[in-house]
Amino acid sequence: MVIQWYPGHMAKARRQVQEKIKQIDVVIEVCDARAPLASRNPLVDEMTRSKPRLMLLNKSDLADPEMNRKWADYFEKQGDAVLIVDAQKGKGIKDIPGKVNELAKPLYEKWARKKVNPRPIRALIIGIPNAGKSTVINRLAGKRITKIGDKPGVTKAQQWIKVDRQLDLLDTPGILWPKFEDPHVGQMLALTGAIKEEIFDYEESAVYLLRFLSQSYPELLKSRYQIEEVPEEVGDLFDLIGKRRGILISGGRIDYERVSELVFRDFRSGHFGRITLEFPETSRT
Ligand code: G4P
Repeated sequence: MVIQWYPGHMAKARRQVQEKIKQIDVVIEVCDARAPLASRNPLVDEMTRSKPRLMLLNKSDLADPEMNRKWADYFEKQGDAVLIVDAQKGKGIKDIPGKVNELAKPLYEKWARKKVNPRPIRALIIGIPNAGKSTVINRLAGKRITKIGDKPGVTKAQQWIKVDRQLDLLDTPGILWPKFEDPHVGQMLALTGAIKEEIFDYEESAVYLLRFLSQSYPELLKSRYQIEEVPEEVGDLFDLIGKRRGILISGGRIDYERVSELVFRDFRSGHFGRITLEFPETSRT
């Protein structure tokens, strides 16, 4: 998969984040729990290091529960606060304001020392496309999503959202792209839906997924396609799945394109069960 991360995009995103970072107290980062590192923008970590961060492992309902816990430990060890969430069903969302408040404790202490009235905490919410940022915002703010006017020195177009009396959210519409020069990262983003279907090859992604499942989740693979043993060669696995499902072209040969689409759709629809595509201990990103 040849996908470029254009330097122009990077420069623009950098400028936009830099502008925003000055106005905020806390960063809330939404990632896809099925690929927590692959689904992060590389700029974010670098540019937000000066701010406390809450990592949301979203789509946790689709990810391996054991891995959700491991990834939570991983980020906590790095000094971040973490919540395992399912924004679609609203699970874990109500804990966000409390976590943000904990992260803002030094700020409250500073205000108390200076005897100033606390203002709402300002959190920047970020996430690559499709990680679930809008769903999180809707769950958090619901009907209260209204622009809450401009802060001093802030451009009008910025989107501030009031969550409650203590928390304002600053959204970052459409500026953060994942980095997918690494082919593994590219495949994970294709599988999880972060990059558009027109720019990747189903067959390549299916091969990647089947190799990964054979190694890491063989039982789920066997049960989905009623296979007794997973063959070593991925080509044989394609044949087996094609035969099981009767995905043939004339002459009785396997239709690899349709098998690829089936495997890909099965993953996207969660038909294999709960799967995490990268593990903290073996992560390449
Ligand atoms: P974005 O703003 O980060 O781009 O993502 P958005 O909230 O639009 O979510 C992208 C897709 O992911 C949506 O599905 C959304 O419903 C789904 N999603 C968000 N959070 C979760 C979660 O925790 N679990 C699961 N399973 N899905 C989640 P969609 O197919 O684009 O739309 P729809 O199916 O909701 O109609």
